Amino acid sequence: MSNATYSLVNDATGEKISLPLVRGAMGPPGADVGKVYSKLGIFTYDPGFTSTCSCDSSITYIDGDQGILLYRGYPVDQLAQNSTFVEVAYLILHGELPSKAELAEFDHNIRLHTMINESLKRFYDGFRYDAHPMAMLTGIVGSLSAFYHDTANNKDARHREIFAHRMIAKIPTITAAAYKKYFGQPFMYPQNDLDYCSNLLYMMFAVPSEPYRVDPVAAKALDILFILHADHEQNASTSTVRLAASTGCNPYAAIAAGIAALWGPAHGGANEAVLRMLDSIDSKNNIQAFLTKVKDKTSGVRLMGFGHRVYKNFDPRAKIIREQCHKVLKHLGKENDPQMELALELERIALADDYFVERKLYPNVDFYSGIIYKALGIPVNMFTPMFAVARTVGWVAHWMEMVSDPAGLKIGRPRQVYTGAAMRDYVALDQR
Ligand code: ACO
Repeated sequence: MSNATYSLVNDATGEKISLPLVRGAMGPPGADVGKVYSKLGIFTYDPGFTSTCSCDSSITYIDGDQGILLYRGYPVDQLAQNSTFVEVAYLILHGELPSKAELAEFDHNIRLHTMINESLKRFYDGFRYDAHPMAMLTGIVGSLSAFYHDTANNKDARHREIFAHRMIAKIPTITAAAYKKYFGQPFMYPQNDLDYCSNLLYMMFAVPSEPYRVDPVAAKALDILFILHADHEQNASTSTVRLAASTGCNPYAAIAAGIAALWGPAHGGANEAVLRMLDSIDSKNNIQAFLTKVKDKTSGVRLMGFGHRVYKNFDPRAKIIREQCHKVLKHLGKENDPQMELALELERIALADDYFVERKLYPNVDFYSGIIYKALGIPVNMFTPMFAVARTVGWVAHWMEMVSDPAGLKIGRPRQVYTGAAMRDYVALDQR
C-alpha cells in the first residue's frame, strides 16, 4: 500500500474517503475500495469487472495496449520458441524455470499420474454418445473430487502438490476418453514413455488393433498451442475457479467450475465458433455480406475470433499461432486449405475496415487455433476441451496461489444493485 492519492466524496453529505493504492510490480495500481461501503454507504458498481482487480497475483502479467503477455516475467513468445509445455507448467506453478533435475522430477510426477481410476471410466457410460465433450469434462473432473480423499486437506502443501500433479496429468486422459466416447472406440491407456502432447494425441487417435505413430510435427504444434493457452491471469474461467475455491471447496470441484465457464462462446468456446462461422461464410464472395451483418448491431452476429477484453492492440498469442498455422498446414500438405484462405481474407478485410479499427478489434488466439486443430484431425467440438487441457495448468496455479496464502482466502462475495420489487406484504391466493 502507498499513501492515498485518490478519494471519493459523497456529494450529498460531503463525506470523503481516501482510497489507498495497491501497487504491483508492473501495470496500473488498484484503488482499494474495500471500505467504501462501510464509510460512504455506497457500493462500487462494475458489471463485467472492466476496472476491477479481484486479487493480487504473481503468475501472469498482461499489458493489453502493448500486446505483452508474461508468465512469471518471461515473454510468452520466448517460451513458445524455446520451452516445452511441461517446463512452462513447472514455471507457472513454481515461479521459476526448473533446473534439469527439477524438470526431470516434475515430468516424472506428471507421467506417474496419467491413468484414471477404472470406475471413473464407467461415468462416461451415463452420457449419450453425442454429448458435448465439455459436458463430459465438467462432470468427470468434478467427479474426481469423490476419489482422492487421501489428499483433500487444502491447508497441507504436500496435498496441494499431489492435487496439482494429478489434475495436470489426468486431464489429457479424461479429454481423450470424451473423444473416444463419441466414436464408440475403446479408451486407450496412456503411454508414459510419450511426452505430454504426444500422449494426448496417442490416446485420441490410436486404436488397440493397429500400431499408431504420433506425428512429431503435430505434437510440437500442440505443445506450442498449449504454452500459449496455459494461463491468462484473471479471465472468466480462472476467476470462476478462484471464486469457487474461495469457499474452501474441493479443488477438483473448483476446476470443474472453471471448465464450465470456459465452455461459453465468448471465452474458450470461441475457437469452435470460429470454425462454425467460417463454415457458414463458406466462400470469399460472402465475406462482405457477412461483415455487413456483423456491423448491424440488431443482427446479434459477431466476428468470432476477433476482439478481446484486454488486448486492444494485438493478441501476442495470435501472431505465434498464425505462424504455426502455416507450418502445420504446409507439413500436412494442406497449405492451400480453402478454410485457411477464407480466414486470411476475412482477417485482411476486417483489419482494413473502420468498424474494427475504431473499436480496436484484432484477431485473438482463437481465430487460428481452430484451423490448426482441424488440420490435425481434431473435430470441432473437441477444440474447447483442448483449450481446457492447457488452461488446467493456469487454473491449478491460481488455486495453489490462493489457497496457500491465508490472506487470499476471503470468500468471494460480490454485492449488487437491486432492481426488483420494493418490500410488500404477502397476498393470500384467493385474493390475487
Ligand atoms: N465482432 C463485432 N463487434 C465486436 C466484436 C466482434 N467480435 N467484439 C467486440 N465488438 C464491438 C462491440 O459490439 C462493441 O461495439 P460498440 O462500442 O459499438 O457497442 C465494441 O466492439 C466493444 O465490445 P465489448 O463487447 O464491449 O467488448 P468486451 O471487451 O466486453 O468483449 C469479447 C470482448 C467478449 C472477447 C468480444 O470482443 C467478443 O465477443 N469477441 C468474439 C468472441 C471471441 O473471439 N472470444 C474469444 C476471446 S479470447 C479467449 O477467451 C481465449
